[in-house]
Amino acid sequence: MNSTSTDTMQMARRLMVALDYADGASARELITKLEGIPCYMKVGMQLFYQAGPEFVRELKAKGYSVFLDLKMHDIPNTVKGGANSIAKLGVDMFNVHAAGGSKMMAAAMQGVEEALAQDPSLARPLVIAVTQLTSTDQATMNGEIGIPGSVEEAVIRYAKLASEAALDGVVASPLEADGIKAACGMDFKTVTPGIRPAGSDIGDQSRTKTPGEAIAGGSDYIVVGRPITGAEDPRAAALRIIEEMSAGRS
Ligand code: C5P
Repeated sequence: MNSTSTDTMQMARRLMVALDYADGASARELITKLEGIPCYMKVGMQLFYQAGPEFVRELKAKGYSVFLDLKMHDIPNTVKGGANSIAKLGVDMFNVHAAGGSKMMAAAMQGVEEALAQDPSLARPLVIAVTQLTSTDQATMNGEIGIPGSVEEAVIRYAKLASEAALDGVVASPLEADGIKAACGMDFKTVTPGIRPAGSDIGDQSRTKTPGEAIAGGSDYIVVGRPITGAEDPRAAALRIIEEMSAGRS
């Protein structure tokens, strides 16, 4: 990094770069450009379904923290098995849908516990629940999905359910981070996609904030994809975002 201050490095660890690529080679190209920036790497379904567990192990071998964003949502027994396999991969964070209910979320935790019992050298990953996707607005949520009320109410309800199931936090829009902290406590983690640096294209996201606003509003981690992956100079874009995050904290 250009700026080597400890503070900047610490803030970089709260930036999760969404590696939304079709194959490992394209993701590696970006990773090379970001070398030396100690950000979290987020592997989602597009990359994982193509490059698989090997790619996750490769990131871990390079020293990155990894968020495996597969958003599991299935019957409890199947999610328990999935969580068990994911924990054995050594990722630092993964997620399930809160809409799967408290039994399903508890089963995910059980799958993790069993993996740790089977291999005590594993570190426990943070298990996070997806609340409402940041691409969902109230009209879609009420009219299509059939959930009444405001998006914020639905998100807080899901967050409380996740907290009661002993999960570590939730994925939510940065607009809801402070409400989640108020409802579930300051230690309950908020991971917020839907981040757009000032003046950038919002794409298909609908509940967005800038990196500085997100940090100021209580986000523990911000997830950024296209504003970095689609930038002409991804390294400069990432460093600018980290600067914006640092400014938001002060
Ligand atoms: O490109 P962009 O910054 O919109 O990418 C956001 C990333 O965060 C994507 O990988 C998307 O799958 C993920 N995500 C999201 N909303 C959620 C959970 C994850 O946008 N609720």
